[in-house]
Amino acid sequence: MRSRRKTGDKTSTEASDAASVGGLEGGSRSRPLICGNWKMHHNHFEAIQNVQKLAYALSSEDHQHVEVCVHPPFTDLRSVQTVLQSDDIPIALGAQDCHSSDAGAFTGEVSAAMLAKLDVTYVIVGHSERRGLFGESSEVVNAKARAVMRHGMTPIVCVGETLEQRRAGQAREVVSQQIAASLSGLDAAAVVGSVLAYEPVWAIGTGETATPGDAQDMCAHARAEVAQGWGSRAAEGLRILYGGSVKPFNAADLMEQPDIDGALVGGASLDAAEFARIVNHRLYAA
Ligand code: 13P
Repeated sequence: MRSRRKTGDKTSTEASDAASVGGLEGGSRSRPLICGNWKMHHNHFEAIQNVQKLAYALSSEDHQHVEVCVHPPFTDLRSVQTVLQSDDIPIALGAQDCHSSDAGAFTGEVSAAMLAKLDVTYVIVGHSERRGLFGESSEVVNAKARAVMRHGMTPIVCVGETLEQRRAGQAREVVSQQIAASLSGLDAAAVVGSVLAYEPVWAIGTGETATPGDAQDMCAHARAEVAQGWGSRAAEGLRILYGGSVKPFNAADLMEQPDIDGALVGGASLDAAEFARIVNHRLYAA
C-alpha cells in the first residue's frame, strides 16, 4: 500500500511510479485534479463570467499545486474555450458526456470527435445521473470511454453505489462490478491514462459527504480492483477522484487521504469563489 502523503508532498519515487505504463502517460498523482461539473447550470454568458472570475481567484501557485478543470454544458464549451485560450488561462476544459460513435443519426447527441475539436481535455463518462436518470449501463460507459480515448482525450469514469446498495452491504461489490465492466477490454496503458471517480450516489447533491475514512476506504478498494484486473503499476498510477458534496470546509481532509487524488465537484463549483477555495484547500487546511 502507498505511504500516506500530505497533499502536494509526494516523493519523487511515487511520482515516477505514476508516470507511465506501457508508454501511455497517466496524470501525475502528486498534483490533485479538481474538476467542476456544472451539470445543467449556467448559460454561455454566465459561463464566461464564471470562468473569468475563477481565473482571477486562482494564483499561479494554485495552478502549480492543483490541476483545475471545468465541465460546462455543451452549449458553453466554445465560449469557455475562447476565454481560456485568448487569456492564456491554465484551466483545462472538460465535457460532461459524449456519444460513443464519431458521427451518425443520433439526434441530440454530441460525439467525442466534436469535443476534441474544441480542445476538450477531460470527458466525464458514466456519471450516476447518466446511469440512473438516462439508463446508461457500464457497457455504454465503456464504449464512451473508448471513444474519448480514441480522440486523444481523457475519460473520467464514474462509479458509485446508491444508498440502498450501501445499506444492503453491497457498496464494494457494486463498485467492483462497475469498474470491471466500464474498463473492460482496456489494456493497462489505457487504464492508467484514464481517471476514475468514486461518487457515492447518496452523497451527490445531498450535503451528506462520505467521511474522509469512508471515501478513502472505497477509493482504496477501487484501486485494489484495478490492481487485480490490470496490475499494480496501473493501479498505482491511476488517478482516483472523490465526488459527492465536496465543499471548501471538507476538501482538505478528503484530499489528504492516500488514495484520493482529487475531486469531482458539483454544486460548489457553480460559484467561482467557492470553487477556488476548494482548489486552494491547502491554504485552508488546519
Ligand atoms: P455535488 O458536489 O453537488 O454533491 O455533486 C457531485 C457530483 O455529482 C459531481 O459530478
